[in-house]
Amino acid sequence: MSDPIEHSDTTVADRQMLAEAIAREGGRIALAYFRDRSRLTIDQKTSGQDVVSIADKEVETLLRERIAASFPDDGLLGEEYGLQEGTSGFRWVMDPIDGTSPFVFGIPAWCVSIAIMRGDAIVAGVIYAPTTDELYSARRGGGATLNGQPIHVSSEATLQSGVLGLGANHRIPSRVVSGVVQQLLDEGGMFIRNGSGALMMAYVAAGRLAAYWEPHMNAWDCYAGYVLIKEAGGWIVDPSGWSSMSAGGAVIVGSPGTKADLLRIVGANAA
Ligand code: IPD
Ligand code: CA
Ligand code: CA
Repeated sequence: MSDPIEHSDTTVADRQMLAEAIAREGGRIALAYFRDRSRLTIDQKTSGQDVVSIADKEVETLLRERIAASFPDDGLLGEEYGLQEGTSGFRWVMDPIDGTSPFVFGIPAWCVSIAIMRGDAIVAGVIYAPTTDELYSARRGGGATLNGQPIHVSSEATLQSGVLGLGANHRIPSRVVSGVVQQLLDEGGMFIRNGSGALMMAYVAAGRLAAYWEPHMNAWDCYAGYVLIKEAGGWIVDPSGWSSMSAGGAVIVGSPGTKADLLRIVGANAA
């Protein structure tokens, strides 16, 4: 995230507008499946806790078609259909449904997440939660909004007064998560895990959650959330510290009053 600020750059703004439109369009497709889950076919990926549905695939296909129609030279990276290189210098990083587990079980905590990169910089991010009709959108240097209204991270929350969003998965030893949870609780904090890391990152940007931590995420899970949180006045541990974009890495983000404590607790429990 090291490019000059992009707020007057229409090429980014045009793409952000398209991201907002297709997040809503894809979200409507997913919502129709969510409301009639008898139509869902579900396949296991790496484990019974890692599944994909026909809705995930249909939404990602729609996103790819819409982007290709407007920006045919842009690169595409999506969770379900992988990387397609482009030549324009822009790359879209997409999770058609973040929170597939809650989605397939009928729990309304899931979203469509779309980030736009220019070179190595994440320049815009959109997260749409269809069940609440909430559209979070941010462009680098242009601020963050929720349904068009400016949003900000909490100016007051600490780990003791607010709630930490927590992510866990089977890609990392369980003791890393249990260690952080134990120390957080011992220090008077509390956590929530709703099954959608992208949506919890949007909640940090909106001042609902104090911070978010997950020991490993992929780029499509968190890139849109990073822009939202930065533009809403929060801090992030920059993903340029990951070994590579495709490897993914730890996600540690929050509002100002959480930084020192969260970094200390996570650092003390590193893998
Ligand atoms: C998952 C969710 C979950 C997080 C996992 C992700 P998916 O994404 O964001 O909250 O803990 O690390 O893989 O599979 O629902 O797209
Ligand atoms: Ca995801
Ligand atoms: Ca997904």
